[in-house]
Amino acid sequence: MKTLLLTWWTWYIGSHNAVLLLEQWYNIIIFDNLSNSSRYILKSIQQIVTASSLNQVGIEVGELKFYKWDLRNKNDLNIVFSENTIDTVIHFAGLKAVWESCEKPQEYYENNVVGSMNLFSMMEQYNCKNIIFSSSATVYEPTQTPPFSENTLTGNTTNPYGTSKFIIENILRDLAHHKDFKVINLRYFNPIGAHSSWLIGEDPSDIPNNLLPYIMKVATGELQSLWVYGNDYDTIDWTGIRDYIHVVDLAAWHLSALNFLSQQQDSIFETFNLWTWTGTSVMEMIQYTQDIIWEDLSYNIISRRDGDIASAYCSPQKAQNILWWKAKKTVQDAITDSWNFIKNKKY
Ligand code: UD1
Repeated sequence: MKTLLLTWWTWYIGSHNAVLLLEQWYNIIIFDNLSNSSRYILKSIQQIVTASSLNQVGIEVGELKFYKWDLRNKNDLNIVFSENTIDTVIHFAGLKAVWESCEKPQEYYENNVVGSMNLFSMMEQYNCKNIIFSSSATVYEPTQTPPFSENTLTGNTTNPYGTSKFIIENILRDLAHHKDFKVINLRYFNPIGAHSSWLIGEDPSDIPNNLLPYIMKVATGELQSLWVYGNDYDTIDWTGIRDYIHVVDLAAWHLSALNFLSQQQDSIFETFNLWTWTGTSVMEMIQYTQDIIWEDLSYNIISRRDGDIASAYCSPQKAQNILWWKAKKTVQDAITDSWNFIKNKKY
C-alpha cells in the first residue's frame, strides 16, 4: 500500500482528494498549518471513508495521518519525511487570493515559493521524486486567446499569486530535467461543489472572493446581496464566463494523474489542463441557484473587478486522451451539492 503526502493550505480541494485516495486504499499523510482549516474536517473525512468501507463489503481503506506543521519550516518537513516512506507528494498548498497577493507579495512568495522549495529539497534528500502539482490556468500569458492548450505561451503573469505558480512550475521543470523528478503539473481554475455525503465542501469563514461561495452566503441570508462584477463583457449575457469543475470530478482527475505517474519509468514533466469544456456565465450561475433553492437571490450589477477577463477556458483534450477521464458532473450538480453541504453544515 503506497503512502502519499498531501500538502494543504485550503482544505477544500485537498479534503475531497483525501477521501477518494483513502477509498482507493492509499495511506494519506496530510501536512497543513491549519491556517485556513479546522480539525473537524479530519473527522468528516474519516466518517465518509468509514461509511464507504462499511457500505461496500470487502473494500479496504487507507490510513490517515495528520501533521499540523508549516512548509516554511524545514525541520517540520524533515520529521515527516524521516518518519514515513513517502511514494508521491500531491502539492496543493499555497495562498490563492489574487487581490491579496497584490497587497502582500512577499507573503505570497514566502508561502508559495519558499515553502515549495523546502518541500522539493526534502523530497530530493529522501529520494522521493514523484509529485503532482496544483497549478492554475492563471499562468497563461494574458494576451493569448482562449481556448488555451498546454502549449499556449505562459508568463507575464499579472499578479504575485500567478507569478508564484509560474515560478514553481519552472522549478519543477528543472527538477525533472536535472534531478530525475517525475512531475505532473495540473492547471485548473474554478473548482466548485461538495462531496455527496454533504460532510465536506467550501464555506469560507470570511467574505468569499469566489462566486459560488458568495452566492451560497446570499442564499442562506448571511450576506444580503451579490455584486455582479460587470455586465459589459462580450459574452452571451454580458457577464463573465468561467469553466466550473465539480471538486469531486477534480479529485478523480488527480487519481488518474497518479495512475499515469506511477506508470512512468523515466523522469517526466507533463502538464494537463483540467477543464470540463462548458462555460457558464455569472447570470447563469445565479439562475441555476435560484432554480435549485427555489428562491430569488438579490444581486446588484457593478463595474468590472480588476484583473478579471471575459471568458476563461482551456482545452481538456490532452487530459481526456492521455488520462482517459472526462468530467461527469454538471454545474447544476455542483450547486446542488454545495447547497446541501451548506444546509447540513456542522462546524
Ligand atoms: C479565481 C482566481 C483563480 C482561482 C479561482 C479559484 C483570478 C484571476 N483567478 O478565478 O486563480 O484558482 O478563483 O476558484 O482571480 N464574480 C462576481 N461576483 C463575485 C465574485 C465573482 O460577479 O462576488 C464573477 C467574476 O467577475 C468572474 C466569475 O464570477 O466573472 C468567477 O469569479 P471567481 O469565482 O472569483 O473566480 P475567478 O476569478 O475566475
